[in-house]
Amino acid sequence: MAPEHGYGTDFLATVEARSGDFFVKAMRNKNNGRRDQLLREKAINPFVRGLAPELLWSAEDADWIVLGFERIEARDTDFGRGSPDVPVLVELVNRIGELELPEVAREWPETRWDWWADRGAPELFRGDTFLHVDINPGNLLIGADRNWVVDWSWPGCGAAFIDPAMLVLQLIGGLHTPAEAESWVAGCPAWMAADPKAIDAFVVATARMNRHRALRRPDEPWLDAMAVAAESWATHRELTVYPD
Ligand SMILES: Nc1ncnc2c1ncn2[C@@H]1O[C@H](COP(=O)(O)OP(=O)(O)O)[C@@H](O)[C@H]1O
Ligand SMILES: [Mg+2]
Repeated sequence: MAPEHGYGTDFLATVEARSGDFFVKAMRNKNNGRRDQLLREKAINPFVRGLAPELLWSAEDADWIVLGFERIEARDTDFGRGSPDVPVLVELVNRIGELELPEVAREWPETRWDWWADRGAPELFRGDTFLHVDINPGNLLIGADRNWVVDWSWPGCGAAFIDPAMLVLQLIGGLHTPAEAESWVAGCPAWMAADPKAIDAFVVATARMNRHRALRRPDEPWLDAMAVAAESWATHRELTVYPD
């Protein structure tokens, strides 16, 4: 059975085997960033087991790299305005923020926003907090008696506000106003401790990055929706995204 969602993985399936059920995630074994993502997900699994399904096995040959996880019963979350899931999302993001930085993640400084930021701003994105980064409805899951964070294929090390900021962006994408979305994370320790100037710089960089992606892929309307969300967040914070 193939799962409903999935952003970018070449092959996803749940497998019922005599030895038990697995969730299989596989990428074509090209020596590129996507292979690296799966290698990261494999390396990080022992450190995120309080939140993530267990990696049970992995395999690799010339054509494929494959990870076999414990199969969980859980549903995607709803980031929409008025959704009862939102407090759960906030709690999960706080729990990610409490994880210790694994040694291996020190080698993964979060630099994806640097190129889009104003001069001098990337410094503000540095830190030694362990970050999931890819906060979205398919990666924060609700189960019958516990909740999960899956898809640790983009983790990094950086400023603590980045994961709550990713949640804010997705909440705005879910049609919360920027003020409402920010109010959801207002009590997050990582948000309260952040320098507002760092958040400003991040919002500007996020808006530019999302707009660039949307312009490159006009066939993907959700990218435009994310760019609009990021731009409305910048407007709310009275920031200039595109200087004249
Ligand atoms: N261990 C698991 N057991 C069952 N379903 C899972 C498991 N991990 C992820 N899923 C489901 O599969 C989807 C895609 O997995 P994910 O790791 O997020 O891959 P992608 O990188 O393609 O987004 C998730 O959104 C979730 O619905
Ligand atoms: Mg995912």
